[in-house]
Amino acid sequence: MTKRLVLAYSGGLDTSVAIHWLTERGYEVIATTIDVGEAKDTSVLTQRAFAAGAIDVRVIDLKEEFAQGYLWPALQANALYQGRYPLATALARPLLAQALCGVADETGAQAIAHGSTGKGNDQVRFDVAIATLRPGTEIVAPAREWGLTRADEIAYAAEFGIPVQATLDAPFSVDANLWGRSVEGGVLEDPWNAPPEACYEWTANPETAEVKEVTVAFEAGAPVAIDGIALRPVPLIAEAHAVAGAAGVGRIDLMEDRLVGIKSREIYEAPAAALLIAAHQELEFLTLPRELLQHKAGIEQTFAQTVYNGLWFTPLREALQAYIASTQQAVTGEVKLKLAHGKVTVIGRKSPQAIYSHDLATYGTGDLFDHQAAVGFIKLYGLQSQAYAKAQTEKSHA
Ligand code: ARG
Repeated sequence: MTKRLVLAYSGGLDTSVAIHWLTERGYEVIATTIDVGEAKDTSVLTQRAFAAGAIDVRVIDLKEEFAQGYLWPALQANALYQGRYPLATALARPLLAQALCGVADETGAQAIAHGSTGKGNDQVRFDVAIATLRPGTEIVAPAREWGLTRADEIAYAAEFGIPVQATLDAPFSVDANLWGRSVEGGVLEDPWNAPPEACYEWTANPETAEVKEVTVAFEAGAPVAIDGIALRPVPLIAEAHAVAGAAGVGRIDLMEDRLVGIKSREIYEAPAAALLIAAHQELEFLTLPRELLQHKAGIEQTFAQTVYNGLWFTPLREALQAYIASTQQAVTGEVKLKLAHGKVTVIGRKSPQAIYSHDLATYGTGDLFDHQAAVGFIKLYGLQSQAYAKAQTEKSHA
């Protein structure tokens, strides 16, 4: 009996081979490509999926949903896994899983398949999300089962006339979307090897890149304009990407701890995320009270880990996101940044909601700070340390 199956289809070697492999195992494959910002030629992709044996091919553009529903919450959380990785791949997986479930509902499919292997985080993110959103769905991960090497896959594609462009010397495994590009494999697997220039496609070489200044404006925690030009979320990310990428900003070389226990060496390019997170965080420093900033930092880390670990569709992620959202009302204003030699440096910030007050902070004329109040404050503030020191001295004399 044939079973209907929705496959997350990237158009690459793995998932093209997967279509045929699934067909041979009795599935009717609906190849589904979800566009979260990786520019692709959809006509080539559609042809390839049909040639590999798909009964239907769907292309769904979810860039806007991705930006508003996933990237802006991550930006408001200043979310960086291990303090470095802006989570581009991790953020896209739950949205993809949800879209696949939607197609499965529409087409009455019993099964959903994805191209993840058995070694990474992505299998966890897909499987957990699908099982949560659509209980009872059969989940198939061909690459986790078949044990084919890249050479085997190329031979398989040739044998069955699947038109793929892959060659044996494809140097890296890449995943890309609006928020960043993840690169792994090949020479990068030796963490001692410096990343070759060839693994970067979105960023200029920082040593020779142009130096730039850029201004980013935010309203209630969401970026709304770059250099004074108001932009919707997707074009704004594209502009941030172009400006920061040209300055060589956003290259990350990380010894990463995967959820499944493996340490792996990952290269990321995330120019838009690097620029926007730096700007957003700076505006928080200007507009949010000290205690809130300190407490939010812990919530941010938990949010990043929760996303990385594939727990998007959980009450924990919802609660963390609600906390973060509740802090953003005041995060309005502009940040001026210098992009040079691959680094982002904040050089100015202003906000109608700034907590900074010149009259309180100044050492010049117009000082409104009550210096006598400081004396009383210090007296009380130092009470316990004085009492402790006194007790220690008395003990040693007893
Ligand atoms: N290690 C990253 C993560 O788990 C990215 C994995 C992306 N996959 C790839 N084929 N490069 O989020």
